[in-house]
Amino acid sequence: MKQTFHPRCLAVLVLVFSISSFAASSQTYLSESALAEILERGAPILGFDDGCSKSVPTCDWMAKIPDNTKLVHMNLPGTHDTATWNYTQETQDALLGYTGVIPEAKFFQCQEHSIFQMLNGGIRVFDLRFAWNPGNQTIGFYHAQALLAPTTRVEDVFFGLYSWLDKHPTETLLVSLNHESGTGTPNNPELQEHLYNIFNSELAKRYWLQTNGTLGTLQESRGKIILLQRFNYDMLPPAMSARIGIHLEPGQWTDNGANITLIYNQAKIQIAYIEDYYEIGLPQGSGAALNIKWKLNATFAHLQDAATLHPDQLYISFASSEHNDDVPPEYPRIMALGNGTDVPGVNQQLLPWLRERKGQKFGIIMLDFFDSVPGLVEAVIGM
Ligand SMILES: *[C@@H]1O[C@H](CO)[C@@H](O)[C@H](O)[C@H]1NC(C)=O
Ligand SMILES: *[C@@H]1O[C@H](CO)[C@@H](O)[C@H](O)[C@H]1NC(C)=O
Ligand SMILES: *[C@@H]1O[C@H](CO)[C@@H](O)[C@H](O)[C@H]1NC(C)=O
Ligand SMILES: *[C@@H]1O[C@H](CO)[C@@H](O)[C@H](O)[C@H]1NC(C)=O
Ligand SMILES: *[C@@H]1O[C@H](CO)[C@@H](O)[C@H](O)[C@H]1NC(C)=O
Ligand SMILES: *[C@@H]1O[C@H](CO)[C@@H](O)[C@H](O)[C@H]1NC(C)=O
Repeated sequence: MKQTFHPRCLAVLVLVFSISSFAASSQTYLSESALAEILERGAPILGFDDGCSKSVPTCDWMAKIPDNTKLVHMNLPGTHDTATWNYTQETQDALLGYTGVIPEAKFFQCQEHSIFQMLNGGIRVFDLRFAWNPGNQTIGFYHAQALLAPTTRVEDVFFGLYSWLDKHPTETLLVSLNHESGTGTPNNPELQEHLYNIFNSELAKRYWLQTNGTLGTLQESRGKIILLQRFNYDMLPPAMSARIGIHLEPGQWTDNGANITLIYNQAKIQIAYIEDYYEIGLPQGSGAALNIKWKLNATFAHLQDAATLHPDQLYISFASSEHNDDVPPEYPRIMALGNGTDVPGVNQQLLPWLRERKGQKFGIIMLDFFDSVPGLVEAVIGM
């Protein structure tokens, strides 16, 4: 039997085709618009992604690292108090209605470039401190009592990371989350449940590495985020027991410790060695030079350990610090970058130290003002 194709059938086919292509493009349009709206709400913490040219070596630096490299063997640059990058006095003044009068912004600000700039600049570890935003409905970001962005939600910032990873599928991110106290908002079961639900969503399964209690190889985690859980789920019912990432139990994280030993997996003896000596305890009037010297002493000692002891364990060294109570005060910028021409900061002095030891293992190094001393991120990575 001869098949004839009736023109009316063709017309119907064309119509069906154009409806479905209209549907596809309208779906793309919808999802692009929704993402744009989320990124807009996230901008006070994320900033804007100006893109990254292939000629900038920090954009996709992990692409050159072999797949079978263990994460605990890598040198990973991070930012301490990541979300404070736009907390200038102008921002604090705009938020006084929420916070009331609190110490000046310079005591809280630890970064000056956005999360997207960090990502494109090679930063792969992020230190985010959460609590309920004012109103106790959405989870946002703080540094102590300094509220950083009252309408930005933790989900918005995660979407920003997902959208960046989609464009940079060779890269791996580590996100440390801890609950910030002193914010005036409650730490309650609803807060923990909200986070638990985020990490147990279908979306999270796509973008967060699902292993519990171990850090694997780069290959398993490319295009994904690893949770460094610096908070507890102690108010959740036992049925909510799923866990991802590694648990850096806050009770084991000695405050201001220069050499913390934190076991995050007892069965497999997985240990994090952490230097988080941030509050320099010198007498008042000691001055910037001596405070910076003490901080560097602790940081160098820990980095030396990272290079020489326990090759298969995780090392985290914070190069960030302050002595806000000194007179005059050494706030984070002074500790990191010095107090002018006469005293160089931690970052300036860390740079040559790392360069002289290129090729050694240092683990994670958390920086304040990560890009204010050119070449520091590259020196951490060992480029
Ligand atoms: C950064 O802070 C300034 C001053 O508060 C504000 O005008 C600007 O919109 C903020 N930037 C972003 C990306 O939110
Ligand atoms: C949020 O929680 C705080 C502390 O528990 C409480 O004082 C405040 O009234 C709550 N705000 C709202 C809008 O429920
Ligand atoms: C996750 O790993 C930890 C050890 O790090 C273990 O104690 C816990 O039982 C694990 N949880 C689940 C749900 O597998
Ligand atoms: C910087 O610190 C040094 C030593 O701590 C001090 O002598 C000097 O006056 C300080 N300079 C400024 C500009 O604060
Ligand atoms: C220098 O660091 C070492 C090792 O952490 C420590 O024992 C010593 O007390 C530190 N000294 C100063 C002056 O901070
Ligand atoms: C840090 O602690 C470890 C384990 O207890 C020890 O081997 C190491 O010598 C200590 N490092 C410093 C700098 O004190």
